[in-house]
Amino acid sequence: MTTLLRGRLLSFKRAPQSLDDTDSYTYESDGGLLIENGVIAAIGPYAEVKAKAPADVAEVDHRPHLILPGFIDMHLHFPQMQVIASYAANLLEWLNTYTFPEECRFVESAHAERIATHFYDELIRHGTTTAVAYCSVHKTSADAFFAEAMRRNMRMVGGKVMMDRNAPQGLLDTPEMGYDETRQVISDWHGKGRNHVAITPRFAITSTPEQMEATAALAREFPDLHIQTHLSENHDEIKFTGELYPDAIDYTDIYARYGLLGPKSLFGHAIHLSEREADAMSEAGAIAVHCPTSNLFLGSGLFPLKALARREKPVRIGVATDIGGGSSYSMLRTMDEAYKIQQLLGERLNPLESYYYITLGNAEALSLADKIGTLDPGTDADLTILNAAATPAMALKMEVVKTLPEELFLLQTMGDDRAIVETYVAGKPAKSVLN
Ligand code: GUN
Ligand code: ZN
Repeated sequence: MTTLLRGRLLSFKRAPQSLDDTDSYTYESDGGLLIENGVIAAIGPYAEVKAKAPADVAEVDHRPHLILPGFIDMHLHFPQMQVIASYAANLLEWLNTYTFPEECRFVESAHAERIATHFYDELIRHGTTTAVAYCSVHKTSADAFFAEAMRRNMRMVGGKVMMDRNAPQGLLDTPEMGYDETRQVISDWHGKGRNHVAITPRFAITSTPEQMEATAALAREFPDLHIQTHLSENHDEIKFTGELYPDAIDYTDIYARYGLLGPKSLFGHAIHLSEREADAMSEAGAIAVHCPTSNLFLGSGLFPLKALARREKPVRIGVATDIGGGSSYSMLRTMDEAYKIQQLLGERLNPLESYYYITLGNAEALSLADKIGTLDPGTDADLTILNAAATPAMALKMEVVKTLPEELFLLQTMGDDRAIVETYVAGKPAKSVLN
């Protein structure tokens, strides 16, 4: 099956160094993008791509909209769709009061399956085609998560959470159960469809040293898998963690001691790192995942994105919604808040960088840039179609917008799911077919 999309194409080649770094991206003002069997077969000026396409190719005209690689969300919690918008003073209160009780419900398959349907609908509605998710502690939740990803043919990363202390009984496994069930999830789902399984110890507070040993064993046995956990989000969390692991130098060192610090390790938040911790992250090639709406919503702190990226030993960075600590499913809203956080820190995050982060940047952070995050031929045809005049107020502002970076900045500042005209998953329209 062959489809030809026409529109304005934008795809990054590397991180932009400045607003006028036009070498960092490809832009076609009248572009053609050819899709064959779910993969991008060719891109370029419309007339050239059309000339190469079969005579009977199905054409979709998306002019004047932008065609970008599908957005990637590096960290969110599938069982927290009904936790979003919970009123709490801080992280630990929010976890104990709302989040842990809600996650207990995912022991029921029927509940997990119902929420999984809503989860993928919401990602697609917001132009997100790949996400890295925490399921709950229950294997049922991981089964529902991966089964629905397969039904939709989406490239997803996810893991059964491992946690064996400091939470309600209904949310605890044991070191053996966490190990055995994670192995089962790997054999049931990893590499099936477009699924990737991640080893997922929730954070050091909810894992005993014995469970951390079990995650270390999994990391040794499955060195290619992603590992995801939380790090240095909130001052009370950091203090409690230090009390639980008194022998570790600092929070990052706890994970390092169990072999969990490497280039496939994704650390949610990582806001309050010391210089030593940032050096250790950099040397290991580990990823700090910035969750701006969550960090503001829970009052956790201001992530020093620019400072970490320009260190002599730079820290690799991803960006994410962190639903349900985060307050929006939209990667546009997420980058608007990321921008404001850098403003408060006296730094500039330019709009080209924002779109780099939510596409190629996150793909590189996942070591998946050969498959997603660009419009390069040979990669998955996961796409987002954007309309910068989606609302009356946006259309009015568009009247005075003159450049591509200005248009992108408008989309980031005012856009949300209404600006997503269509989302393509493996070459097929997925948003317009939602109920
Ligand atoms: N730390 C441990 N678990 C969580 C969670 O579910 N959300 C956030 N924001 N931080 C966490
Ligand atoms: Zn999280």
